[in-house]
Amino acid sequence: MEYYLAPSILSADFSHLGDDIRAVKECGAKILHFDVMDGLFVPSISFGMPVLKSIRPLTDMFYDVHLMIRDPERYIDAFADAGADGITVHAEACVHLDRVLDQIHDRGLKTGVALNPATPLHVLDYVYDKTDMILLMSVNPGFGGQKLIPAVLDKIAKLRGILDEKGLPAWIEVDGGINAKTIGSVIDAGANVFVAGSAVFGTGIETRYRELEALLPTE
Ligand code: DX5
Ligand code: ZN
Repeated sequence: MEYYLAPSILSADFSHLGDDIRAVKECGAKILHFDVMDGLFVPSISFGMPVLKSIRPLTDMFYDVHLMIRDPERYIDAFADAGADGITVHAEACVHLDRVLDQIHDRGLKTGVALNPATPLHVLDYVYDKTDMILLMSVNPGFGGQKLIPAVLDKIAKLRGILDEKGLPAWIEVDGGINAKTIGSVIDAGANVFVAGSAVFGTGIETRYRELEALLPTE
């Protein structure tokens, strides 16, 4: 299995966003996590297509767009046009999840389904075959810098069991409260992509990225 850190620019300094992104790129980051919030599905509002479009030329990293917005089918084309490589939608925010995943694949992008901490895994039962990545929220979405909810570890392990049993290659991404203290338990539970916002951005981005990366399994 391949393991990746996915730095979340939600915690970057927007007065020099380009520099912060170049810093993680130079550390070898392959995935950049882009948190979109609408003030409805989650309390806060972050950023959207114009920001994605302006950072697209900076790197060839995989731009992993996490839509924390209601009825995301309205914006799939716009984020695809702005330069997303993968789009993750929340199961809780979609009336027609199956159709939205088709919409994302039809644009040639990777699909992701995100679940809030309290949402059971069975909502995935009939979409596994069209889901490239499952994002398990380990905090209630809406803000960076929160504490990982321990009950999610059991959920990650259950999902790892389901994917292995079905022989599915989907990635398990975990988002929220990942830092040097918590990442080990999330790795042990069976995830392979780790979103990290406040643990990477701030002062000393390169050092913090490398310290976290050193904790990933090497194979
Ligand atoms: C939370 C966002 C996360 C957030 C993670 O709603 O989806 O991606 O940036 O931030 P940290 O790593 O600080 O918990
Ligand atoms: Zn996120």
